[in-house]
Amino acid sequence: MKIGILTSGGDCPGLNAVIRGAVLKGVISHDTEFVGFRWGWKGVVEGDFTSITRHDVRGLSKQGGTILGSSRTNPFEGEHGGPENIQRMLDENGIEAIIAIGGEGTLAAAQRLTDAGLRIIGVPKTIDNDLAATDYSFGFETAVEIATEAIDRLRTTAESHNRCMVLEVMGRHVGWIALHSGMAGGAHAILIPEQPMGIEEICHYVDSVRERGRAPLIVVAEGFKLDTMEEAHSHLGLDAFNRPRLGGIAEKLAPMIEERTGIESRHTVLGHIQRGGAPSAYDRVLATRLGMHAVDAAYDGAWGSMVTLRGTDIETVSIAEAVGSLNRVPQHRYDEAKILFG
Ligand code: F6P
Repeated sequence: MKIGILTSGGDCPGLNAVIRGAVLKGVISHDTEFVGFRWGWKGVVEGDFTSITRHDVRGLSKQGGTILGSSRTNPFEGEHGGPENIQRMLDENGIEAIIAIGGEGTLAAAQRLTDAGLRIIGVPKTIDNDLAATDYSFGFETAVEIATEAIDRLRTTAESHNRCMVLEVMGRHVGWIALHSGMAGGAHAILIPEQPMGIEEICHYVDSVRERGRAPLIVVAEGFKLDTMEEAHSHLGLDAFNRPRLGGIAEKLAPMIEERTGIESRHTVLGHIQRGGAPSAYDRVLATRLGMHAVDAAYDGAWGSMVTLRGTDIETVSIAEAVGSLNRVPQHRYDEAKILFG
């Protein structure tokens, strides 16, 4: 079989490990031939691909980013987009199946293309851990490690200057990175999109930390909204991809806290540092296994399915299950963390 691989959407550590896992499994077990589409669906639409051999994936599991490049191109748009054009391009080049590694947008497109008859297997990718049908996705654990290290570093400088620190981490719709790094790093409050909170409650945690003679440390997910700041957020509008623009919540919170508590406050935005660099050992293993199982799913003819982590096993589910809803932080997980606040 000749399989084309693509990586699409925002990158995250582990993409190259998926590619390596798929190629090694395919070459060793099935004598598969591989090509890689450049820049996600853009490469599919434009017929822009390159062959990937066993030699090309040597040492790749520890390499951050994606050797194929990524973009947020929609395969249904443009002169050469749409299922008929894509199928023609695949047939002309003898490419029998696609392994699409991506998040919600990528998988939703994969689902529509599968419905139109294309042979696609999905691999879940989200640093935010917001995809519904998998327990964890690769890249998330690495991001949590990086955010936790940032908290540890912020704590020492906060204590030196007797300041409050507000750290903003990724999480557009869900607060998993904030929750896990905040718990690991001992944050005094964790603010996530699933749990809007008022500035008074946040300042209550800050004050109680200060009363115990400590320097308050707050972790906030980028998608968190203060319940009183709807207006401030809504005027920011949409970004180039029609997503609600995020407004630098940490930058807003730090002066509000300083004004209300009198505690000197600083903010830090971790940003794309969470997405760059080498994946953790856990993410390398998870990504490699997902890549290997994606190839098996192709040989099983499980078109329209996605490989997924259930407990410690890799299973397959329909892509539709993954794109229907978000994996939000459940109330009981937040309540658990909240006991440690203040
Ligand atoms: O979806 C993953 C994510 O990292 C979000 O947490 C973040 O809002 C977004 O991607 C950033 O995307 P970009 O790299 O396009 O700025």
